Amino acid sequence: MQITVVGTGYVGLVTGTCLAQLGHQVTCLDVDHAKILALRAGKVPIFEPGLEPLVHGQQASGRLQFVDNYEDAVRRAEALFICVGTPSLPNGGADMSYVEAAARSIGEHLGPQYCVIINKSTVPIGSGDWVGMLVRQGITRAAALSAASPARVMAEAEGRDTPTPKAGAATLTTPGARPDFDVVSNPEFLREGSAVEDALNPDRIVIGADTERAVERMRALYAPLLRRNETLGRHVPFVVTDRASAEMVKYASNAFLATKISFINEIANICERVGADVTEVTRGIGLDDRIGRAFLNAGIGWGGSCFPKDLASLSHTGREYGYESRLLDAVVDVNDSQKLVVIRKLQERLKLVKGKTIALWGLAFKPGTDDMRDAPSLLIADRLSEMGAAVRAYDPEAMDAARRRGVRAELCKDPYDAAQDADAVILVTEWSEFAALDWPRLHAVMRRRLIVDGRNCLDRTLLLWQGFEYCGIGR
Ligand SMILES: NC(=O)c1ccc[n+]([C@@H]2O[C@H](COP(=O)([O-])OP(=O)(O)OC[C@H]3O[C@@H](n4cnc5c(N)ncnc54)[C@H](O)[C@@H]3O)[C@@H](O)[C@H]2O)c1
Repeated sequence: MQITVVGTGYVGLVTGTCLAQLGHQVTCLDVDHAKILALRAGKVPIFEPGLEPLVHGQQASGRLQFVDNYEDAVRRAEALFICVGTPSLPNGGADMSYVEAAARSIGEHLGPQYCVIINKSTVPIGSGDWVGMLVRQGITRAAALSAASPARVMAEAEGRDTPTPKAGAATLTTPGARPDFDVVSNPEFLREGSAVEDALNPDRIVIGADTERAVERMRALYAPLLRRNETLGRHVPFVVTDRASAEMVKYASNAFLATKISFINEIANICERVGADVTEVTRGIGLDDRIGRAFLNAGIGWGGSCFPKDLASLSHTGREYGYESRLLDAVVDVNDSQKLVVIRKLQERLKLVKGKTIALWGLAFKPGTDDMRDAPSLLIADRLSEMGAAVRAYDPEAMDAARRRGVRAELCKDPYDAAQDADAVILVTEWSEFAALDWPRLHAVMRRRLIVDGRNCLDRTLLLWQGFEYCGIGR
């Protein structure tokens, strides 16, 4: 199938590359010219395990190409994915300006063949209808321009002023050639850090569509993925529903996962006060099938490019429709204070943070990615700097991203360098390399040997035995 992916970021690049790997002919489009030039030169702009070799392989096979203009990308497409960003507005709503620009441009460049336009961006409920309207406006505008062009040519040839087509005066070109499309919602559930794996082996595929023809096109598009998983003995449910419900599935999934984390953090905070250990509690409750073990690790809380904005957007949607989502707002509230729990712990032990040197291990919002969007490390570094501490930091993959974000910390070459003369280390992101360090070496470089394990991922017994002060979350 001829597929175009609009927006070549974390989702678009992974989606496009995996669809090429499954045998489709994929064009990835982005308005960021520099990004497209880099990709054409084989430079993958994000860190995601397994992505780079896959991109190179698909580029070499000729099934994956990168372009920076709609003209080249849209005309022949049989399926078009919208994968542009939907960041938060100050009022919590989703900023839909990128989706709007993409939908209009798609409309202006659609070819005559039937095409599905697929919203993979996380968009507020009802956006599918709106995207359809924008695409139709784009089609009308393109038709108006093309109808006007002979007159323009004549005017230019005769040296007269070029006439501008009047809004509403659109004459469509050959009616039979008018683009034919449906809008589909196909939310994305990949996780940064295992995005390729998730895209190729999803737990489910959710399709929100209102025509049988669109569903059939989506079935054909995903047929190679479903077959591949069947061969590996995995059945991937293909869930077909209406568009609004599909859009809600994405928000509800993220809201539920964020709720689980805030829930266990609340339990952790109570554990600390009553002398229980949240890691033991989690072991006990996680064995209940109805609860499960996933997303029950107490720690600094959630951040990243999705949970914060998606919860804000869902709550905003509720308010727009006259509903106060008290539970969702509490989930966000608990998380906001949880990010600073590690600073309270530092104050309890160091008393005065001013003048102290604090090392941060991990800057990315989670391991396996270099994504710094809404990373708790940014807030922690800011707060420590405001309190007068010298902050030193290291991350295995996110150093460039941290530099671009202007994190308020001296960036160091490794975890030992970051901990040099430090009064405390805060483990912010649970990269596996932090669990297997040379502890005697670390002991030798630190001034005071306090380790605040913000993710409960270090071996407490070992660290105490090695002569460190250890402080976890909820323990
Ligand atoms: N990152 C994730 O883990 C994840 C997971 C599931 C869903 N999502 C959703 O997917 C969407 C994309 O997220 P992302 O993290 O990939 O964003 P991103 O910021 O990494 O990528 C978006 C890309 O779109 C490009 N773009 C912007 N306007 C454009 C336009 N008019 N035409 C063409 N390209 C344009 C940008 O240049 C950028 O490269 C969001 O709605 C997000 O909520 C993200």
